[in-house]
Amino acid sequence: MMTRRQALAAAAGLSVAGIGACPAMAARAPIAFGSAAEIGVFRDDPRYREALKTHCDIVVPMNDLKWEALRHERASFDFSGADELVAFAASNKQALRGHTLLWGEALPPWAKTLSTRAEAERELIGHIEVVVDRYKGKIATWDVVNEAIRFDPREGGPFRDTIWQRLLGPEHIEIAFRTAARIDPKARLVLNDFSFEEADGGTAERRKVALSILRRLKDKGIPVHGLGMQAHLYGDKTIDSPGIQQFMRDLAALEVEVEITELDVIDWKLPADAATRDRAAASLVSAYLDAVASVRQPKAIVTWGLSDRHTWIDETFPRKDGAKARPLPLDVDYKPKPMMSVLNRYRRGAS
Ligand code: XIL
Repeated sequence: MMTRRQALAAAAGLSVAGIGACPAMAARAPIAFGSAAEIGVFRDDPRYREALKTHCDIVVPMNDLKWEALRHERASFDFSGADELVAFAASNKQALRGHTLLWGEALPPWAKTLSTRAEAERELIGHIEVVVDRYKGKIATWDVVNEAIRFDPREGGPFRDTIWQRLLGPEHIEIAFRTAARIDPKARLVLNDFSFEEADGGTAERRKVALSILRRLKDKGIPVHGLGMQAHLYGDKTIDSPGIQQFMRDLAALEVEVEITELDVIDWKLPADAATRDRAAASLVSAYLDAVASVRQPKAIVTWGLSDRHTWIDETFPRKDGAKARPLPLDVDYKPKPMMSVLNRYRRGAS
C-alpha cells in the first residue's frame, strides 16, 4: 500500500526512490509560501499578477527595495516600485519581506564612491532609518544584510569584499541590525545569504561564518531573528542533508529561526528534455526542504519568481544549448510543474 507521502510524491511525478532516503516526515504545520515579484513584469503581465495572487501568502519586491532602485539620487528616495508592490500585497492580504537594507551589489554609482568611515556610516544609518520607517507595520520581515559572507571564506577571510566591509569592517552588520531594530522594534530581522547546501569545504566554512555572525549579534544583545537561506540550488549537485541538518541544529541552539528566501533550481547542466529537468528540479527541492524541515520548520518558503517565463537564471546561468531555463514552480504558461506539488505539500502542511 502507498503511504500518503509516496502518493504525494507520485502525484508530483517524482521517483519515490529519489526522495525515499529522506527522514520520515512528522505531522507538520503549514509553512507560508511566497515569491519575489519583478516590477516590470508585474506592471505588464496580468497573468503574473494573477499567479502572485493565486499562489502566494508572501510577496517580496525582487529589486525595488535595493539601493539601486531607491537611491538613484543621493539626496532623495524613489519608492514608486516598492510602494506599488506593497499596496498589491496589502490588498490581497499577503505578507511582505523586505529585500534588502544592506548589500554590496545593486548600488547606485554614487554609493560606490563613498570614501570614509564616517560617510559610509552616515549613509547606511540614514538609509535604513528612512526605508524601515516608511514600511513600518507593512513589511514585517527584513533581509537586513544580504550576502555578507565571502564565497569561500578559506580564501581571504570571512567577509565579502564590499564597500561596507572596506569602510566599516565587520561592524557594518551590527550597525545595520541595530538601526533596523531601533526604527521598527517589531520587525523580524534576518541575515540572508547563499550556498549553505552542498557537501564541500567552502560550504562548511560558510555555515560556520553565518553561525559566528549570528552568535556575535546575540552576544551583543542586537536583535536578529532569522537566517535566510537563499537556496539557489544547483541542479547538477547533490544536497548535503546531514550537513544541513547539523546546521539546523546549530541554529536552533542559537535560537535563530530559518527561512528559505530565494529558492530556484539552476538547471544549466541538466539534460535538455524538459520533463526530465522538471522532475530533477522537483526532486532536488524536495530533498532540500525535507533536510531542513526534518530539523527546523522554516518560517517561510519563498521562490525567486514563480514562472519560468521570467527568471534571472536565464541570464546568470545560461544553458549551452540555448534552451530556456526551467528553475521555478510554474512553466512559461503559468502551469504548475512538479516542483509546485512539492511546495504545496509544505504550504498545506503534511501528516
Ligand atoms: C537578482 C534579480 O533577480 C535580478 O532581476 C537582478 O537583475 C539582479 O538581482 N541574490 C540576491 C538577489 O540576493 O537580490 C538577486 O536578484 C539574485 C541573487
